[in-house]
Amino acid sequence: MKRKVIIDCDPGIDDSLALMLALKSEELDVLGITVCSGNVPAKIGAKNAIKVLDICDRKDIPVYIGEEVPLVRELITAQDTHGDDGVGDNNYPDIEGVEPKNGGVEFIVNTLKNEKDVSIIALAPLTNIAKALKLDKDAFANIDEFVTMGGNFKSNGNCSPVAEFNYWVDPHAADYVYKNMPVKIHMIGLDVTRKIVLTPNILEFMSRLGNEKMYNFIKEITRFYIDFHWKQEGIIGCVINDPLAIAYFMDRSICSGKEYFVEIEEEGKAIGMTIVDEFDFYKKEKNALVLTEVDAEKTMKMFMNKIFINNEELIEAMGGNL
Ligand code: BDR
Ligand code: CA
Repeated sequence: MKRKVIIDCDPGIDDSLALMLALKSEELDVLGITVCSGNVPAKIGAKNAIKVLDICDRKDIPVYIGEEVPLVRELITAQDTHGDDGVGDNNYPDIEGVEPKNGGVEFIVNTLKNEKDVSIIALAPLTNIAKALKLDKDAFANIDEFVTMGGNFKSNGNCSPVAEFNYWVDPHAADYVYKNMPVKIHMIGLDVTRKIVLTPNILEFMSRLGNEKMYNFIKEITRFYIDFHWKQEGIIGCVINDPLAIAYFMDRSICSGKEYFVEIEEEGKAIGMTIVDEFDFYKKEKNALVLTEVDAEKTMKMFMNKIFINNEELIEAMGGNL
């Protein structure tokens, strides 16, 4: 049985890779893609989601524009990391004949109300999700699972020493979601996503897997990201955060962790920080499963197996080189 999901995202280079993984996975029934502002303004992100649908031959899936600004903070995008166009400044043309719809928040609420067993995988600031919870919390009584790429526990931040981008962009939304989501939140934070590095070696390997269209798109959009990582972090390759949330949703053996009470700092020097009550100071109900261990090789193999189908043996043989 396919699992029904809404993917909430801000494409974004790694969001685009995550969408590709989801769209190419027969285990998932992607009911819709909702976009909020984050890496780029929501309207640009929604156009990028349509580019990925086009690459994956899935233009039947609806894309909705959601919230264009965070709940309280002013919007700060990550166009330095993802390019002005959000997908590496390659002048990749908009797809003609397909337009994003408005009403991302309403789509989330209505889908949860009208369909059973829907999960949400959020790869962006949590503005759309917080707004949907505020609009109709009862609709969330039906949610199956909620996975968020965001936050950091033992690992340092990527926007400040303590804050990760998605929660830092809209800390009020993130905190609201942690305090109001009726199911336990699966937190795929930087502790695990930092281990998912797309290296030139892996890219070179992908070029031999027999799907030129997919390979070219991945190579083109990650070029900018690889340059950014070299300048910023001195590494060759790029950390691809968002696909891990999709991979984990499909295979629980990919990450492991522990349950804690989690909240997000909304003000001051530590704005956006994920506060994980490791020693149970607050004696509050545990609201999140914080993932801290990851099988990076398994993740990368899954990514390639889904996107470059029919090459399982080759991908298995690549093994230790990943
Ligand atoms: C997160 O921030 C964004 O730049 C990425 O798309 C990812 O969702 C990582 O901190
Ligand atoms: Ca993202």
